[in-house]
Amino acid sequence: MNKINILAIESSCDETSAAVCSNGTLLSNRIATQAVHAAHGGVVPELASRAHMQNIVPVVDVALKESGLQLADMAAIAFTQAPGLIGSLLVGGQFAKSLALALDKPLIAVNHMQAHVLANLIADEKPSFPFLCLTVSGGHTQIVKCVGPTQMEIVGETIDDAAGEAFDKAAKLLGLPYPGGPLVDKYAREGNPDRFQFPEPKIPGYNFSFSGLKTAILYFLRNAGTAQVYKEEFAATEEERKKFIEENLADICASIQSRIITILLNKLSRAARDLGITNLCIAGGVSANSGLRKAFKEMGTAKGWNTFIPDFQYCTDNAGMIAITGYYKYLENDFAPLDTPSMARGF
Ligand code: KG4
Ligand code: ZN
Repeated sequence: MNKINILAIESSCDETSAAVCSNGTLLSNRIATQAVHAAHGGVVPELASRAHMQNIVPVVDVALKESGLQLADMAAIAFTQAPGLIGSLLVGGQFAKSLALALDKPLIAVNHMQAHVLANLIADEKPSFPFLCLTVSGGHTQIVKCVGPTQMEIVGETIDDAAGEAFDKAAKLLGLPYPGGPLVDKYAREGNPDRFQFPEPKIPGYNFSFSGLKTAILYFLRNAGTAQVYKEEFAATEEERKKFIEENLADICASIQSRIITILLNKLSRAARDLGITNLCIAGGVSANSGLRKAFKEMGTAKGWNTFIPDFQYCTDNAGMIAITGYYKYLENDFAPLDTPSMARGF
């Protein structure tokens, strides 16, 4: 029987990526990162679309070459349909549709958030169903209950900022360049996580909130750590604030990161306990965080739960996860018409 080979394209934000999988095993996963945004302190949608236009052909080309397969060997073309920046999504979507039309192959429309969850099915050691996945990215923070590869339900999510945004906004307040998450992670490794106490929000159920933490960090820094976290009169001058950050960067990063991690894992563990689910996964860009990965594993060991984390390269945006999701959708004959739209929102 012919193998089910899927070529997948991801272009939802600022990474142009292409991957090939064969019967659910990844053969290649290439990512072109767009350096252009760093100077702007965040992703500039117009620049992202233009960079996707430049990158998409060479990225697909190298992913195909690395897989050792030809376009003619593909069973289907998968692409990220939603959610994301609409201009970015359109570039990958139109490219995938053109390929599907030219090759006369079926098109598979993949939801980016579902794909982050299914990144956990890339490794040989896969979670069995049902599992809970904490998906933490720059735009989303969700606890997803997964009873089958394509059967997912959101059981909790953020009511304001995403966990990645909390990292990036904290980093910005500390004067670190975008994207700040990986830098907070780096400095936190050298710091004391118990030095500064940031508040844990009291949000009911399995939902999250990070906007209060952002405000607390803002006030804390404006007071150069001298006053209560919530005190609104700002005691420090600009110079004192900068000096305070410079001298305490590692401890501040470690304390912020530690609070974000406890907010995330307390909710996940409560959901796991209440729903009686013992297979737990994490996914999304923030799951690349070394502190979260460690604390998540430790939680699993302490509670006797099975924990799964995608390989580092499959945590942040990548087409490998789109290819794997495309494979499971292919098995269900879940194809999309060539006029299917790209959507900024979804899931
Ligand atoms: O999933 P992703 O690559 O893109 C979205 O779909 O949003 O996630 C990007 C987010 C950014 O906020 C980035 O700062 C964060 O993931 N991130 C990290 C780390 N690596 C990426 N946050 C904390 N620690 C990291 N090591
Ligand atoms: Zn993502």
